[in-house]
Amino acid sequence: MKVMVVGSGGREHTLIWKIKQSPLVREIYCAPGNAGISKEATCVPIPVEDIQGLLNFALNRGIDLTVVGPEAPLVSGIVDTFTEKGLKIFGPSQKASQLEGSKVFAKEIMNKYGIPTARSEVFTNSSLALSYIHKIGVPIVVKAEGLAAGKGVVVAHTQTEATQAVQNIMERKLFGEAGNRMVIEEYLEGEEVSVMSLTDSKDVRLLASAQDYKRVFDGDRGPNTGGMGAYSPAPVLTTYLTRRVKKEIFIPLIKGLNEEGIVYKGVIYAGLMITKTGPKVLEFNARFGDPECQVVILRLKNDLIPLLLATLEGSLNQIRLRWSTNHALCVVLSSGGYPESFEKGKTINGLEIAESLTGVKIFHSGTTLIGKKIVSSGGRVLGITGMGSTLKTAFVRAYSGVKAVSFEKAHYRKDIGYRAFKT
Ligand code: AMP
Ligand code: GLY
Repeated sequence: MKVMVVGSGGREHTLIWKIKQSPLVREIYCAPGNAGISKEATCVPIPVEDIQGLLNFALNRGIDLTVVGPEAPLVSGIVDTFTEKGLKIFGPSQKASQLEGSKVFAKEIMNKYGIPTARSEVFTNSSLALSYIHKIGVPIVVKAEGLAAGKGVVVAHTQTEATQAVQNIMERKLFGEAGNRMVIEEYLEGEEVSVMSLTDSKDVRLLASAQDYKRVFDGDRGPNTGGMGAYSPAPVLTTYLTRRVKKEIFIPLIKGLNEEGIVYKGVIYAGLMITKTGPKVLEFNARFGDPECQVVILRLKNDLIPLLLATLEGSLNQIRLRWSTNHALCVVLSSGGYPESFEKGKTINGLEIAESLTGVKIFHSGTTLIGKKIVSSGGRVLGITGMGSTLKTAFVRAYSGVKAVSFEKAHYRKDIGYRAFKT
């Protein structure tokens, strides 16, 4: 088979690393990829938003399966465009991707089908939103409806923060059209966990759990990022809670989507808060999480290709997932300043040494090749991942990799996994 992966982050590097191990695969392409991916696949410089360009490439090159990493092309309808031309592509349709693309849509489905989530109201007008916030009080959570690269959510602990969030979304239009509508919701207390699943719209298979560390600084301080690290499995999701998540969230969700006439095929990622009364949904994503994908796929024993094909072809009921008992922990090395402004083009040293360490795997995110040098080209630069028979070993291995790598103004959290070590 010829496979193409769309995207350029650590998630896509992980998918390519895994797909490359499949005996079913002969050639792998990535659009547009990064420096790490270019060692394992043929990179083609087509941006993820250029759906027509990606389609032409897939048709000309005879690609048998395309796997979409990020949300933007899904929400723009890449799956519909490829499917109309008879091409196989992994990911939900444009309509189904609304589960991530519109927080209002996701809330409507959850409320209609009894899926546990925070109480919320939708607003299209800032003065009504502000008087609602005044009435409810803080803490409260303000969310822009659409895609905002993880920056459209503010957990406000003061009235001033809440007011600012509403003004940024509605009046200053910081997120453009994504902020035409807003969801304001109850603040939930508890521990977060990410549960990804594969669904063919009939069956669902939960992947191993993971926990993402979203804040930029140690101790969960500072602004939210795309994710500064993750580990799998997450002990907070016990076997009992896993059963509840499947029964109370994924099964009614898929049933509800079907009743709405939406055939969802692909990954459903649920960002959950484990509250005192049980798991509640914070958000859904229509794709693998990044960096959750790195730690979960590293532990997956199955060949990934038959899983992706079964999801597309409606035969997930034939599939049994198998997981390594090892733990995986990923530490993200970012450019100093991220998620605000940061410098690019810094030469990265020590990659070969880090890669030669036992139990260390490096997934590239924002990296590019300049001549023979690998330089930083994004906010999140590398995902240095450790594997081991205990979480502690995975932690020690990941951080031994981190210590071996350097670039000017690199930043990373030193406490990835701390919540699991506390228990
Ligand atoms: P979201 O993109 O909706 O998952 O929100 C980003 C982050 O904001 C989540 O990972 C949580 O840390 C936090 N968050 C979102 N909604 C809530 C909520 N209702 N209560 C508490 N924290 C929340
Ligand atoms: N790490 C969170 C996400 O991929 O949305």
